[in-house]
Amino acid sequence: MGFLYRKLIRRLLFGFNPELVHDAVIRAAAAAQRVPLLTPAVALAARAKDLPVTVAGLRFRNPVGLAAGFDKNCEAARFLAGLGFGFLELGTVTLRPQPGNPKPRLFRVRESRAIINRMGFNNAGAWQAARSLERLLPLPIPVGISVGKNADCSIENAPKNYLEALKVMYPYGDYFAVNISSPNTLQLRSLHSGDRLRRLVEPMMSYAAGQKRAKPFFVKIAPDLEQADLEAAAALAVEMGFGLIATNTTVSRSAVAERWRAYEGGLSGKPLRELSNGVLARTAKLVKGRVPIIGSGGVFDGETALEKLNLGADLVQVYSGLVYEGPFLVKEILGHLERRGWRPAR
Ligand SMILES: Cc1cc2nc3c(=O)[nH]c(=O)nc-3n(C[C@H](O)[C@H](O)[C@H](O)COP(=O)(O)O)c2cc1C
Repeated sequence: MGFLYRKLIRRLLFGFNPELVHDAVIRAAAAAQRVPLLTPAVALAARAKDLPVTVAGLRFRNPVGLAAGFDKNCEAARFLAGLGFGFLELGTVTLRPQPGNPKPRLFRVRESRAIINRMGFNNAGAWQAARSLERLLPLPIPVGISVGKNADCSIENAPKNYLEALKVMYPYGDYFAVNISSPNTLQLRSLHSGDRLRRLVEPMMSYAAGQKRAKPFFVKIAPDLEQADLEAAAALAVEMGFGLIATNTTVSRSAVAERWRAYEGGLSGKPLRELSNGVLARTAKLVKGRVPIIGSGGVFDGETALEKLNLGADLVQVYSGLVYEGPFLVKEILGHLERRGWRPAR
């Protein structure tokens, strides 16, 4: 199946503008999930043996999830759940709708199996995402919701903006990802610094603690962090009890051809793998199993997924791999994990 995608479908899709294709895929998936029996039929074809794992108090059918940014408006969650994922991370959702950066803002770096994006949190806003999930939930797998900051909100006012978005989305997520690591929102990454991160996450976690069900939080970190910032984030995670997602996209272009330096944005896919794995390994060493870690960056097959799990990730996520390897990637990864006798560490 993966072969068919790579030889035929990918060639066709890659003939068109990347953002156009992405939007069309989301629209098609959203339409497909309304056709009776279609999603269950796809789910049957994509299903692999369960490799259950419990992380942050949630039960996952398997450790392979969809990374944030693929379904920003939470429109196609039911169809995506049918692709065999152990969980979905939807969003990033901001409180108010916003158009994102000017186009073009999404580029395929085909020779490196990579993507550069500077989408800038284009999304229809939290209320629209909530309306959509109202129709699509419940799903048979956990759903994480990634929240971010509106572009027109200052860094000083970020905590309030994130909190308001969280409040709207709270009933719909099983966990929440606090996205402070997109390189495409001005100054967003400055939220990594210890004090700012505490002031950002504390109100969200205390809101959650006051609800009927206190849900877990993850903070998604950048791969371009200084060691001091990484140490501060890890220490805070352990102190406050939130997990970490390592990592988002990189602003580095050292692993791709010279000409891509002219393209601003975050780089993902194969060239991100090594950098991201380095941060994952350092994070795992710092938190020592006391809080969960999700590994993201350059997972393209079973081996690259296993590598992250062996480096200390409790779960992994894919985005670019799905674009290059196709919708049966999860099944391929799970087959590999099963053959290699993978078992969750806890
Ligand atoms: C087009 C695009 C949009 C993305 N949007 C988001 C986003 O909104 N929020 C987020 O946390 N990560 C976003 N990401 C980052 C991915 O979730 C993921 O962490 C990153 O791409 C590395 O994984 P990969 O190498 O498997 O793609 C985006 C990535 C891409 C390629």
